[in-house]
Amino acid sequence: MKIVHSISELRAQLRGQLRTAFVPTMGNLHEGHLSLMRLAANHGDPVVASIFVNRLQFGPNEDFDKYPRTLDDDITKLEKEGVYVLFAPDEREMYPVPQDYRISPPQDLGDILEGEFRPGFFIGVTTVVMKLFQCVQPQVSVFGKKDYQQLMIIRRMCSQFSIPTEIIPAETIRESDGLAMSSRNRYLSTDERLEAVWLSKTLHQVADRIRQGQASTRITVDDVVEIESAAKQILNHRGWRTDYISVRRRSDLKAPQAQDLAEPNQLVVLAASRCGATRLIDNLEI
Ligand code: PAF
Repeated sequence: MKIVHSISELRAQLRGQLRTAFVPTMGNLHEGHLSLMRLAANHGDPVVASIFVNRLQFGPNEDFDKYPRTLDDDITKLEKEGVYVLFAPDEREMYPVPQDYRISPPQDLGDILEGEFRPGFFIGVTTVVMKLFQCVQPQVSVFGKKDYQQLMIIRRMCSQFSIPTEIIPAETIRESDGLAMSSRNRYLSTDERLEAVWLSKTLHQVADRIRQGQASTRITVDDVVEIESAAKQILNHRGWRTDYISVRRRSDLKAPQAQDLAEPNQLVVLAASRCGATRLIDNLEI
C-alpha cells in the first residue's frame, strides 16, 4: 500500500485510473470500516482510503482532541484488505489557509436530527468530503448506512453539484449483541458496553411496533409519536440521555404522513443517545 500525505503525491499515484473506489474515514478503523473497503473493492479498482480527523465537523465541546488516532494499527488493517493508496494528510495539507468556503446543506435536511443537536456538523462533513472528492476524483465512493443522514446529504450534494462519483451505501456492521460498530464505542466502560446494546434493542422495539401497526393497517401519525416517546422513555429510565428517537421517511428524513405509514419499506427509525458520556447513534430501516 502506498501511503501519501500530500494532494500532489496522491494525484500522481492515481493519474490515469478510470475506476477509483474511495472510502473516506477518520481512522481508528474497525470491522465496519473494513467492510466498506471490501465493498469498494467490489465496485472499483484501485481502492483508495483516506484518514483525516476533520476539525470542521466537531463542535467546540466535542471530542476532536480525544478522538482516537491509531494510524499504525489502521495501516496494518488497510494493508491486509489490499487497499492500494492511503491518503493521510495533516491539517496543514487539507486546510493550509482557513477554510472560508464551505458547503452548506439545505436546512430541511442539514439542520434536523444530527444537525439539530450538532450545529454545523454537516457543513463540516460536506466541506471536507467535497475537498476529498477533488483530491481523489473517485468514480465510486462508499459511505456507511450507520451515518444515515450523512449518506443522504452527501448523495444529494453529489447530485446537485454534478460530482461524477457514484455513492454506494454500505450496511451497518454490528457486534454480536447488536451494537452498531463505531470508533466511539471504545469510550464505553465495561458496564456501559453491556448497557449500550439497549440502543439497537430499542430501535428494534420501535420497528416491531410500527410493523405490527402496519400489519393491522390501523397505525396513525399519533401512534408513531407515542411509539417514539415510549422508546425515549425506555432509554432515559435506564439512565441514557436521549437527543432523539425519530421515525422518518427514508426518502427525505421528514416525519411520515398517513399515506407513508400505509406503504411498506418507506420508513427508518433513527436515534442518538448518550450512554454515560458517550454519544451513540444508530438507525434501522423499517
Ligand atoms: O463518517 C466519517 O467518518 C466522516 O464524517 C467522514 C465522511 C470521513 C468525513 O470526515
